[in-house]
Amino acid sequence: ILVTGGCGYIGSHTIVDLIKNGYEVISIDNNSRSDVEILKGIEKITGIKVKNYCVDLCVFDDTHAVFQENPDIEGIIHFAAYKSVGESVQNPIMYFENNINSLLNVLKCCIEFGVPFFVFSSSCTVYGNPDSSPVTENTALKLPESPYGYTKQMGEQIIQQAINNCDIQAVLLRYFNPVGAHPSIQIGENPIGPPANLVPAITQSAIGKTGFMKVHGSDYPTRDGSCIRDYIHVSDIAYAHTLALDYLISEKNKKNCEVFNLGTGNGYTVLEVIKTFEKVNHLSLNYKISERRPGDVISIFANNEKAKSVLGWIPQYNLEDMMRTAWQWEMKLKEEENKKESQYLSIISSSVPAI
Ligand code: WQD
Repeated sequence: ILVTGGCGYIGSHTIVDLIKNGYEVISIDNNSRSDVEILKGIEKITGIKVKNYCVDLCVFDDTHAVFQENPDIEGIIHFAAYKSVGESVQNPIMYFENNINSLLNVLKCCIEFGVPFFVFSSSCTVYGNPDSSPVTENTALKLPESPYGYTKQMGEQIIQQAINNCDIQAVLLRYFNPVGAHPSIQIGENPIGPPANLVPAITQSAIGKTGFMKVHGSDYPTRDGSCIRDYIHVSDIAYAHTLALDYLISEKNKKNCEVFNLGTGNGYTVLEVIKTFEKVNHLSLNYKISERRPGDVISIFANNEKAKSVLGWIPQYNLEDMMRTAWQWEMKLKEEENKKESQYLSIISSSVPAI
């Protein structure tokens, strides 16, 4: 199985789940937004050293070469994309160029090399600002609220059109908000640069890596004024990918392109997430209410009945588990940073001649 974006947050957790379920995996990831070190964490959990091709999927020839070297690829899970709503509002062209060109190149190779199964990392942002929640897979897609959302909505359309003329079977997985870390705390979310997403913003503020955390708006028409999202543990998201591949490989799919919502079905406000984080980790977070963030959807959460009944997918983790593992992972990152710092200092001190 080829996993694009395999060094990323969801990609790495999915690789662990695929290996646990007997799949053999290779990754393509140019590490522009990820750290190849995460493969060591995967090895600690699975005992498997996964091969990553550090290739930019926007370069067709380099992408093609990986397929040429691995003619026995049976399935593809395409994660590689930029994924920050806020950043996409600031840099729309960068988002369209990266997210669409990489998808087109992977699809072209998939068709040329006759890879039969394709799983696409989509997103609840394709629903735009829904009139109501929970949303089902049949909820009409409104215009996305951000260029990021457009790249996912367009990505779904491109796949649906492209596979009609060939023998590819596809599944589109619409994630809600993936958060938390693998229970082994060997892998987790480690955004490059200032955190755009809520949970890393919380954990990095709590550990002191950043200052106070900003709540983007408390004047929305919701129960406490802050936005509502359906937070889902990343390991639950990972498991759904394995089930989606099993579903395709066993030819259970009724249509050549099936869509599934991956959420818990529960919506939580930003302030409720903060309160849960504080409660399970016995600490108080330094946060301030700030202005709304352009591109934000007011409220969305999933109806996940289809994934449950068709894929047999049952989310295992609740919001407390998500907040606990997210904090344990942040503390692990800090511990490793301190270790590196003390090793560096001991090298420096040993190399300075005694006076
Ligand atoms: C959630 C809420 C913010 C940061 C994400 C992914 C996207 C897709 C959908 C998978 C919003 C608020 C955030 C902060 C805050 N997932 N917030 N302070 O925008 O729903 O999109 O889920 O494909 O890839 O980006 O997630 O975590 O950025 O924001 O108040 O410092 O938290 O305003 O209401 P979002 P998010």
